[in-house]
Order: sequence, then C-alpha cells, then structure tokens
Amino acid sequence: MKFFIDTANLDDIKEAQDLGVLDGVTTNPSLMAKEGISGQQNIIAHYNAICAIVDGDVSAEVIGTNYQEIINEGLELAKLDDKIVVKVPMIKDGIKAIKYFSKEGIKTNCTLVFSAGQALSAAKAGATYVSPFLGRLDDISTDGLGLIEEIRLIYDNYGYTTQILAASIRHAMHMVNCAKIGADVTTSPLSAITALIKHPLTDSGLAQFLSDHTKAAGRP
Ligand code: E4P
Repeated sequence: MKFFIDTANLDDIKEAQDLGVLDGVTTNPSLMAKEGISGQQNIIAHYNAICAIVDGDVSAEVIGTNYQEIINEGLELAKLDDKIVVKVPMIKDGIKAIKYFSKEGIKTNCTLVFSAGQALSAAKAGATYVSPFLGRLDDISTDGLGLIEEIRLIYDNYGYTTQILAASIRHAMHMVNCAKIGADVTTSPLSAITALIKHPLTDSGLAQFLSDHTKAAGRP
C-alpha cells in the first residue's frame, strides 16, 4: 500500500520524505489556506516546492466547478510537473473533465467521494485515483471503512485500474484497516504515519536492553 501525506506543510512533507516511506502528497484548498498560501503565483510556487521534495504523485486541486474551468485549470496544473495529479471534485462536470484528462493521458484524482456509486462513476470515467473520505463518514456515524470495502469489491469485480486512495484518514488504525481491505493508497497526516511506528512495548523493551547492556559493560 502506498503512503501519501495529506498536507501542504513543507516541513511535514520533508519529514515524511526523509523517513523513506513516502509515496506522494495530496493537498486541497483548505490545506493550502492553512499554510497561508493564496494567489495564483504563490499557489503555483508552492506546488513546485512540494514537487521538488517528494518522489511521487502530488495532487493539486482545481477550484473551478464547470467543465471548461476545470479543463483550463487542470491543463495549467499538469504542465507544472510530471508528478502533478489533477484533483477534480465528484460532480457531473468533474466526471466529464476526468474523461477528457484520461484521454489526454493526464493523471486525475477524483475527490470528495462518499458512496460506492460515485466511485464506480469515477472508475468508468478513467480516474487514476478515487478518494473516498472515510474519516468524514465516520464523523457522521457512518461506516467509512465499509465504503472502502465496497469500492474494493466493485473494482475487483470488473478489473478497474483506478487506484483507491483512502482519504480523510484520522489515525494509524485507519491505515492498518485500509491495508487489510486492500486500499491501494492512504493519505494521512504525518501524525498517523509516525504513529504506525510507535509501540510502548518497543520503547520499554529498548530501554531495558540498553540498561542491561550498560550494566554488563560496567562489570569486570
Ligand atoms: C483528500 O485528499 C483530502 O485532502 C483529505 O483527506 C480530507 O481530509 P479531512 O477530512 O481531514 O479534511
């Protein structure tokens, strides 16, 4: 399973990249705003900065919501770097645009997906990635992981190559459960990625080993 980081924070992206387990980055307009990035030139510069750090796909979201706006923006974004994946919302014009980008060989990430029917439509349009938001479904007491299972089943039934990019991940257990289900990718905050590595028994076991080593070294 690929690990993407869901942030526009350059320090977090660098830390995950240095860890050696990062496969890509997803951003969205809220994450860009959180970093204080606004204005077309600054946004473009920020995508370029992200692409310079990470080895892998970088999702850059369009703001337009009608077909022509999505196409124009997507073409501009795709020109920035081969790593750029045009992130398109799951709306009618978005699906039409994904079909267009797919014919042009431009990678896409269909975002804001909350149902199996939406995921099926994204695959039929030829999306490279589909992003079901499992955490936001959990937030409204719905089964987010259940949706990932449904999409996996449907894609496997027909051999769709669209990759399931489980998004809106809140914690490490979401990542582990997505791996059990067979999601292709998870995108999560740095905290979830680093939490995967931690276990209190590892910490106490290591402390014990080091203390025993020091005691033994002090003996004649
Ligand atoms: C997906 O690509 C989105 O950026 C993201 O995962 C949304 O997550 P949130 O629910 O934490 O905002």
